[in-house]
Amino acid sequence: MTDIPHDVLVIGSGAAGLTAALALAETKKVLVLAKGRLDSGSTAWAQGGIAAVLHAGDTFDDHIRDTMVAGAGLNDRATVEYVIERAPQSIDRLCELGVPFNREEGDLHLTREGGHSHRRIVHVNDATGWAVQAALLKAAEDNPNITLLPGQSCIDLVTGRNQVDYSGSGRVWGAYALDEASGEVVTHVARATVLAAGGAGRVYLFSTSPRGATGDGIAMAWRAGARVSNMEMMQFHPTCLYNLEVKNFLITEAVRGEGGRLFNPVTGERYMEQYDPERMELAPRDIVARANDDQIKRYGLDYVHLDISHQPAEFVTEHFPTIHEKLLSLGIDMTRGPIPVVPAQHYTCGGVKIGLDAKTDLPGLWAAGECTESGLHGANRLASNSLLECFVFGEAAARDILECWDRLDDPPEILPWDESRVTDSDEEVVIKQNWTEIRRFMWNYVGIVRTTKRLERAGNRIDMLRQEVEEYYGSFRVTTDLIELRNLLECAGLIVKSALKRHESRGLHFIMDYPETDPIGRDTVLVP
Ligand code: FAD
Ligand code: SIN
Repeated sequence: MTDIPHDVLVIGSGAAGLTAALALAETKKVLVLAKGRLDSGSTAWAQGGIAAVLHAGDTFDDHIRDTMVAGAGLNDRATVEYVIERAPQSIDRLCELGVPFNREEGDLHLTREGGHSHRRIVHVNDATGWAVQAALLKAAEDNPNITLLPGQSCIDLVTGRNQVDYSGSGRVWGAYALDEASGEVVTHVARATVLAAGGAGRVYLFSTSPRGATGDGIAMAWRAGARVSNMEMMQFHPTCLYNLEVKNFLITEAVRGEGGRLFNPVTGERYMEQYDPERMELAPRDIVARANDDQIKRYGLDYVHLDISHQPAEFVTEHFPTIHEKLLSLGIDMTRGPIPVVPAQHYTCGGVKIGLDAKTDLPGLWAAGECTESGLHGANRLASNSLLECFVFGEAAARDILECWDRLDDPPEILPWDESRVTDSDEEVVIKQNWTEIRRFMWNYVGIVRTTKRLERAGNRIDMLRQEVEEYYGSFRVTTDLIELRNLLECAGLIVKSALKRHESRGLHFIMDYPETDPIGRDTVLVP
């Protein structure tokens, strides 16, 4: 397995990883790793679409302004411009790859989402991510320079500390990964590595993210010595389905974009009037999520109602076929009545700090997508800007690696993974218990509305669990569950630490002890 010939290692097979791989494969041999299945990341789950300025009435300036308004002034303007100006090109490339975007009289159909001043979201019905993931995977599978390897849970990045001839440097030379089928740890050595391992949504009890979103990329980069920033900026989506069996099914923001309204199920009030009378249900996500949370807590509700049944039934089924079908299977008919919804964690705005060239702090390591903090989203991501960021920075990483290639050294000899002091665990229950505990206290203490006291409480729990998990990690053979638990805990620690450092409320970080927003926005940058 170590012998698969490759020049570049890409960790992650979502939108960011595959975009980088396809661009690199023009001249390099690329090995792409995924934890579990190749389509197990968030990309396949994306519903709403991809934001891009595509019609004459819209402008880059408008998209830039909307992004910065949603981001509450914490965005990096140069990054915002860089990404938004490249959006139309990204859409062209996806069309070339065969993504069957919805069209109207030949032109791309654009839907609308919260915080956008124009219709500018290209989409494939309400299952855009599935179509994008399938097209990227097909192109990668057809490319002789790309090897796709699912079932590889990366444990840690290989750095100069792992050289046979110890260098102690943070230069990255690939990654150690657990081969899920054999249980062996494999060393994937590479001259350049791209980290595209997605977000850390599963650190919260309720999340729209898939099971594997455990912040592995962020935790690995942090342990290897890279800075991470703005980890307190965790995005909560206002409308996740409330259902006792199906806990993480998103109801796309496009439902509100196409006229859906929010109601208090007890009073019948269309309550967004109280929170954002101008933008109502199409206010940025942080505002709508806080409004939903407030209604639920104030009235002791289990959920609020999202209702689009005033629109003609054909309009609803045509725009939202996937959601309609899923809800019908659960006994809810969205053409006839409201959908019960709750806020849930949705997106990790913070992550590994990168520049416009997708370089991290560590030589040999580039990063792209949800595991990064590029400066695009600031304190709150604008809807449908995330896939876009994956395409733009996936390309940027590839371009920079190709430009640097001749200056990159060949990998040195790397030490194999050392398993001489560990045994098989007979206490898997400990992992499950700790996993649930983290997610529960993060939801209760580090959620939509925060206080210093609750953050400190969460911090204390994290310190206690850290000791237990490290002891466990040092004594037993790794499993994917253990790798994820360790990373979840690392990310929980980074979120709490960042939240405690920000003495203001801004965007997604609302803390009752500091309700005001400082005149100048500053990133929360953590240095290992
Ligand atoms: P992912 O697609 O999450 O891929 C991560 C990859 O890393 C996977 O292949 C995974 O297997 C791999 N990986 C993780 N850990 C390891 C490890 N330890 N070892 C090896 N491999 C690893 N954004 C939009 O712009 N528009 C939308 O409409 C939209 N809708 C969304 C709906 C839902 C329900 C969700 C959850 C998110 C949505 N988002 C949307 C956000 C967007 O989907 C994600 O931010 C984006 O897809 C992230 O892509 P990525 O390539 O960075 O990571
Ligand atoms: C949604 O469809 O509501 C999600 C869009 C996004 O996360 O950008």
